[in-house]
Amino acid sequence: MSSDSGSLDALLSEERRFPPPAAFRAHAVLHDPEVYERAAADREAYWADWASQLHWFEPWREVLRWNPPQAQWFLEGKLNVSYNCLDRHVLDGHGSRVALLWEGEPGDTRSYTYRQLLDEVCRFANALKGLGVAKGDRVTIYLPMIPEVAVAMLACTRIGAIHSVVFGGFSPESLSDRNNDAAAKVLIAADGGWRRGTVVPLKAHADDALAKSPTIEHVVVVARGGDLSKQVGASLKPGRDLWYHDLVAAASPDCPAEPMDAEDTLFVLYTSGTTGKPKGVVHTTGGYLTQVYATTRAVFDIHDDDVYWCTADVGWITGHSYVVYGPLSNRAHVLMYEGGPDWPDRGRLWQMCERYGVTIFYTAPTAIRSFMRWGEEWPGKADLSRLRLLGSVGEPINPEAWIWYHEVIGGTRCPIVDTWWQTETGAIMITPLPGITVTKPGTATLPFPGIDAAIKNEAGEETSAGYLAITSPWPSMLRGIWGDDARYRQTYWSKWKDTYFPGDGAKRDEDGYYWILGRVDDVLNVAGHRIGTMEVESALVDHPAVAEAAVVGKKHDIKGEVLAAFVTLKEKHPASDALLKELREHVGKKIGAIAKPDMIVFTADLPKTRSGKIMRRLLRDIAEGRAVGDTTTLADPAVVRRLQALYAEEE
Ligand code: WTA
Repeated sequence: MSSDSGSLDALLSEERRFPPPAAFRAHAVLHDPEVYERAAADREAYWADWASQLHWFEPWREVLRWNPPQAQWFLEGKLNVSYNCLDRHVLDGHGSRVALLWEGEPGDTRSYTYRQLLDEVCRFANALKGLGVAKGDRVTIYLPMIPEVAVAMLACTRIGAIHSVVFGGFSPESLSDRNNDAAAKVLIAADGGWRRGTVVPLKAHADDALAKSPTIEHVVVVARGGDLSKQVGASLKPGRDLWYHDLVAAASPDCPAEPMDAEDTLFVLYTSGTTGKPKGVVHTTGGYLTQVYATTRAVFDIHDDDVYWCTADVGWITGHSYVVYGPLSNRAHVLMYEGGPDWPDRGRLWQMCERYGVTIFYTAPTAIRSFMRWGEEWPGKADLSRLRLLGSVGEPINPEAWIWYHEVIGGTRCPIVDTWWQTETGAIMITPLPGITVTKPGTATLPFPGIDAAIKNEAGEETSAGYLAITSPWPSMLRGIWGDDARYRQTYWSKWKDTYFPGDGAKRDEDGYYWILGRVDDVLNVAGHRIGTMEVESALVDHPAVAEAAVVGKKHDIKGEVLAAFVTLKEKHPASDALLKELREHVGKKIGAIAKPDMIVFTADLPKTRSGKIMRRLLRDIAEGRAVGDTTTLADPAVVRRLQALYAEEE
């Protein structure tokens, strides 16, 4: 990280301070800093207090049992997630309140009250039962951002089925890998989905995946493709494929929620790691819901008159926790949008903020940097005066983007919550509390009350700059990796004793604030999406022309990071522009468009240590045009010079 130290110093010398505006603080859910002490004095009582705000069919008998690295929270408690997100609010007299307001890319809209959403979820839950889905079975959800994605997730939770949502941008091969790893029984897909004015043929992708997904018995298809629906309808496989609307219309709206054990698995979500194979992160019921409920309430300061919009796709953890479960368990009024942010023009999101009176807006730094590039005139055309709180997630936010967000979108009056967390943590871990914390641009500030973090060196000693560590179990922590306990232990718990290793570098300043510096492992963060370098390398090596490949991250103004691939071809395969294009497409086909390298360099050799390890640090230096650091361990230093020359040509 040596070459980054200049920019790091600049970050840490950030002098600007933003205390919570008095008007905000006066009405904030949390406004008294004593919450930090109260939580620290008795963490279990503190979390139990949040949990008791949910509905439990049966109370827990023990808050936490910790046999590292296995945590159990709220032992023997029984609850149901869909009951907490829906029935509870209807029974409390809020059935006519809007739960979900949705806008499709072409401009069509749909709205569901809590009662309507409950009705639809119950019908679909019954339909799933009718297809033979039982408690503990896995259901893959491969849908665009349409209301049915939330309905499908909630319907699974209602009957105790485990959902695995696969982002619609993943390729058929990624989809079948996930179907197979989880041995999913049912796939819920759409015929199509809108993206920048055209319909993406999602059912066709699903069909390609299904050819290699032997465990899938039924496919439920949501009609969203307009004209495509007829064509897809004609191609449905009798006995296997069914229309969602037919199933829901025929099903009973009466479906009691299954009392689930607090530690029953709620969902699996696949994410990239340091090997070629994505891992199925396992989350359970009671602890997960408690922490997403608590953080949504306290970090987003949810009040009854708020209109809440998190722009994440439900295919990622942010969509799970902060589009669906957190807001709905808080009885929030949630806005959801199907399409691209620049369709039909770059003012789309701001027009929607105005149209629906959005008060809380949560997005990613990569999006903010795009908005900056598009210019102030787009938000300038919309009335954003109802906004009162802004959030950021997914990667470090650079101070310029923070300030722009604060001034141009937030009109200098909205606190910004820069929230650090991961698929594995399930919920927000390090974040400002908007009515309490004095923020500084670029830092996620302090651990949420009840979360214990530290910065450690390799040996496990506390330092002010090193690796981020989570030192006590937390309610929404992952409980494992689907079918791979060894990998769970190895990835997260082998660096230090009984301490979780998130894979991020961090630094602490004089106020104790955490500055997250990015991944320290072979996971890249491209436009806020996690991509494993090994996954992309395996996809490249899978191509018949490729002998060897190394992929590294290269800094990018908008996306934060993009992929640079160094590829050695097999003899007989000459380098060409056509092959370069073909390799990018090949990666797109194997993983998905988000994993296509921004740049591919053909090279006769890769820089390796004497023991044969590819020196990724060197490749990163080359990719970013930096002077190359220490190469004394390199087997053949000339390789680096050749690569540098090649790379310069490419650019
Ligand atoms: C990064 C997304 C800095 C980090 C919720 C983490 C962040 C990875 C922040 C997890 C933030 C997320 N500041 N870095 N506020 N939020 N990250 O699993 O590197 O898709 O390890 O979860 O994103 O990505 P994931």
